[in-house]
Amino acid sequence: MSIIVSPSILSADFANLERDIKLVEDAGADWLHIDVMDGHFVPNITIGVPVVKSIKGVTQLPLDVHLMIENPEKFVEAFKNAGADIITFHYEAVKDVLSVVKLIKSFGIKAGLSIKPNTPAKEIFEFLPHLDLVLVMTVEPGFGGQGFMHDCAQKITEIKQKAPEKLIIQVDGGINNVTGHICTSLGANSLVAGNYIYNHMSPSQAIKSLR
Ligand code: DX5
Ligand code: ZN
Repeated sequence: MSIIVSPSILSADFANLERDIKLVEDAGADWLHIDVMDGHFVPNITIGVPVVKSIKGVTQLPLDVHLMIENPEKFVEAFKNAGADIITFHYEAVKDVLSVVKLIKSFGIKAGLSIKPNTPAKEIFEFLPHLDLVLVMTVEPGFGGQGFMHDCAQKITEIKQKAPEKLIIQVDGGINNVTGHICTSLGANSLVAGNYIYNHMSPSQAIKSLR
């Protein structure tokens, strides 16, 4: 199965966002990863609905929206209307996972569930048949440019063993050519990368090396 590469615009220059989106689009990105943070679920604030709407107007890439927010269910419809094609929320941020998954799917878009480094994979096994995507975080969510947490990689194997064939297993945090290869060899088929792609001399070579 081919690897879906989703560059994270958290490492882009926000004053030149259109330019930096085109940069990864031309470099061969499959999706565009958009990190939404609320200052509560994670200790950082990034971008919200209006920015996603503007991004939708300047790219053909599917928008892979990673919600690192409390009460994600309150914002699903707004992000869908802004143009999200995939909405991933955090297991740790909700009480009723399946109701949020159903809500996302009711809009005809893909639903993803993410786990932080300290959350065991087995806690989400029961949800796997209902999901389009699982996102394994390999850094504490909140910031780009952190080091890959090797201890988290085994969760990819555990999820792969339980996953339906069509499930997309995505990894996010500290991904480069070396750590990305570890993840794909364990069964991941989608890689998010911010720092590695945006600070590479050749973003297209960086994307190729992830594939
Ligand atoms: C971290 C975000 C990531 C981040 C990845 O909370 O979810 O998407 O941008 O950045 P790198 O690839 O630089 O670790
Ligand atoms: Zn992310």
